[in-house]
Amino acid sequence: MEAVELRVGFVGAGRMAGGLARGLLRAEKVPASNVLASAPSDKNLDAWQESGCRTTHCNLEVLQESTLVFLATKPHILPGVLQEIRPAVGPHHIIVSLAAGVTLQTLQRAGAMVFARGSSAGDREAALLKSLLSSCGLCEEVPESYINIHTGLSGSGVAYVYLFAEALAEGAVKMGMPGGLASRIAAQTLLGAAKIMLETGEHPAKLRGDVCTPGGTTIHALHQLEKGALRATVMNAVEAATNRARDMAED
Ligand SMILES: NC(=O)c1ccc[n+]([C@@H]2O[C@H](COP(=O)([O-])OP(=O)(O)OC[C@H]3O[C@@H](n4cnc5c(N)ncnc54)[C@H](OP(=O)(O)O)[C@@H]3O)[C@@H](O)[C@H]2O)c1
Repeated sequence: MEAVELRVGFVGAGRMAGGLARGLLRAEKVPASNVLASAPSDKNLDAWQESGCRTTHCNLEVLQESTLVFLATKPHILPGVLQEIRPAVGPHHIIVSLAAGVTLQTLQRAGAMVFARGSSAGDREAALLKSLLSSCGLCEEVPESYINIHTGLSGSGVAYVYLFAEALAEGAVKMGMPGGLASRIAAQTLLGAAKIMLETGEHPAKLRGDVCTPGGTTIHALHQLEKGALRATVMNAVEAATNRARDMAED
């Protein structure tokens, strides 16, 4: 099945659905006229119409009109929605729940997504989803048990990275550099380091070792980070967010 012939539906038309739809449209994976979104109010639907997508207040219509359907309501709404749409779900549907795992930021820019498939989703469906979501960034299929870990690593992880970027820049401000310039250099530094990690596939410890001249500036700085237990603190943060995501999924 060609991606361009796809009809993509969204049940729930808020921030997550909007971010994903923008990614798919920008990458021209699907024409706007083949996208249908539903929500009870017009609050979010107006923006969808402006970008050429079709909208409805009827969730069943989304199922009737679409092959690939993203469920993008808040988690506590989802059980009722599932009950409502169940009669319209057929074997041709690929149903993807966004109910946990990634932030809007992740979808729009940071671009790291994972998905797990249910027992009736086959290789063809997984390949199609991967091809579509890859237009919004890195996309990997994982076992379901990794979904909450992904929230702790990436969904929430963007916030840890911002905190680190802020601290980097403030260090430079402390030493006399203007804040705006320091922020831009901090962002560029993170981008460059991330690109090298992805391009080389090297373990970060190896890359870090490579930039440490014996007796040089970097090893002196790293010693301070070790004294502040940066690594243990970040590991604790990922653990805390993963556990919180797990608890929220069980609520
Ligand atoms: N775990 C994570 O890291 C993470 C992070 C962010 C989001 N998410 C998940 O992504 C999902 C969506 O979040 P969001 O931030 O996009 O929420 P949102 O902006 O509040 O959007 C929710 C959408 O659902 C619609 N809706 C409400 N009741 C509905 C119903 N009965 N049938 C159909 N649509 C209905 C809302 O309609 P109106 O437009 O009329 O209000 C709105 O368009 C949630 O499940 C959330 O958990 C997960």
